[in-house]
Amino acid sequence: MMEIRFRDSTANRIKSELVVIPVRDKQLDNPVLRALDRHLKGQLRARMSKSNFTGAEGSVLLHPTAGMLPAAYLLLVGIGAGETSGDTWRKAGAKARKEAGAIGAGEFALLLTAETNLESAAGAIVEGATLAGYQFNKYRSNGKPATALNRLTLFRSGLKKTSGLQKSVDIAQATAPGVFLARDLVNEPPSVATAKFLGAQAQRACQGRGLSVEVWNKKKIEAMKLAGLLAVNRGSLEEPRFIRIRYRPAGKARKRVALIGKGITFDSGGLSLKPSKSMETMKLDMAGGAAVIATMSCLPKLGLDIEVTGYVPTTDNLPGHNAQKPGDVIRYMNGKTIEVLNTDAEGRLILADALALAAQQKPDYMINLATLTGACMTALGTQVGGIFSNHQPLADSLLRSGQEAGEKLWQLPLVKEYKELIKSAVADMKNIGGAHGGAITAALILQEFVGDTAWAHLDIAGPAFAESDTLLGPKGGSGFGVRTLIKFLLSL
Ligand code: BES
Ligand code: MN
Ligand code: ZN
Repeated sequence: MMEIRFRDSTANRIKSELVVIPVRDKQLDNPVLRALDRHLKGQLRARMSKSNFTGAEGSVLLHPTAGMLPAAYLLLVGIGAGETSGDTWRKAGAKARKEAGAIGAGEFALLLTAETNLESAAGAIVEGATLAGYQFNKYRSNGKPATALNRLTLFRSGLKKTSGLQKSVDIAQATAPGVFLARDLVNEPPSVATAKFLGAQAQRACQGRGLSVEVWNKKKIEAMKLAGLLAVNRGSLEEPRFIRIRYRPAGKARKRVALIGKGITFDSGGLSLKPSKSMETMKLDMAGGAAVIATMSCLPKLGLDIEVTGYVPTTDNLPGHNAQKPGDVIRYMNGKTIEVLNTDAEGRLILADALALAAQQKPDYMINLATLTGACMTALGTQVGGIFSNHQPLADSLLRSGQEAGEKLWQLPLVKEYKELIKSAVADMKNIGGAHGGAITAALILQEFVGDTAWAHLDIAGPAFAESDTLLGPKGGSGFGVRTLIKFLLSL
């Protein structure tokens, strides 16, 4: 793990291969840069005026010091003109990590500038610097590992290492491995990442004080009457699994939370087969389940006094000879029935079991994450998750957590009038709505299974999978949801 140090020092004195100075947009004439420029005999100012660096968010200027400072290189990182948020610092940390890698530096030092909330900035910088180093290279024959970042020094004149500062950094360092685990699970090819594999990975990753894992096989799933999971699994030769992970604090739990994740390891659509183009990324369809497993794996290190139970129903959705058929009806443990008119609307079918099961425990909050609908992507694009809830304080709290975590969420409504659209001719409801509002009708179906428990549904179909490289990670699984869930649990 990366070593994090705090130092009471200045940019002129600190010794490091790379010293990173955050710069606000159009504020190039500030005391820090003036002092550095004096040591550099005017070369920094000259370079700044030649380049088009202004301090705009995301822009950088790298300057070798040629022995005139204890640092080998200076890196100015633009942080923009607006208010600096956690996200600003997360991106600055990521940018610095990338530049450090490019010059082969195994460590860097970053100046915590004056106007920041030190604690949240420190955590966000560490998080950004760590996340930006993620790679998934196990299937490349020429995979070159990224330059390891062994040490990050946060400095500022008069800086004292407080317990708040240390805690914020500790949380970032406890969260990053969870994000990496979620990314790894999503990126793994679908014929490797089967339901059985996910169960084994949950058992491997969820260890430590307070955690216990159960992986139910098909026989147990039958005994537990998880009818939706069995129906979706019928078209597959792979057995389904139902993963239940429990975290119990050492003392009395102040709150009880259930996390539920969709674990479709590959979504072909079933007999309602998808076109091949739409299938290309369908290994991502267990991203909700991966986020739940990954979040659970972080809990022992966070020392929460909250009981958290993770539920992940998992199978692939294939059109094998015994596959469920449009027109079939599923009878759930809570007595409700769903007519399956489209086997590609399978996520809601397996989540219904898990939500009903979790609701029996009467948790204080129930949160499910699912790559549920293309309609949600149409509404919000690829970077924003949809959130639906029957409990506004829970929705508000998750929206706040998402914002702090740098994971964008936007609330969509549970329009009760649209229940008309999921009426079935033969059952309590059907599994598809009309031509429009598909993210909402999907959420309304889930709602039928939560009873009166405070519940939120995060449709992460867009942000679960990055379509191209970003600052915080490469194309592929993003680990979306892990950071938000951890922030949320810490806020309770
Ligand atoms: N897993 C998909 C949703 C999805 C689509 C996730 C694109 C990520 C990217 C889900 O199971 C699905 O197929 N939904 C259908 C529902 C429809 C048949 C009512 C959809 O969105 O088209
Ligand atoms: Mn589907
Ligand atoms: Zn799906």
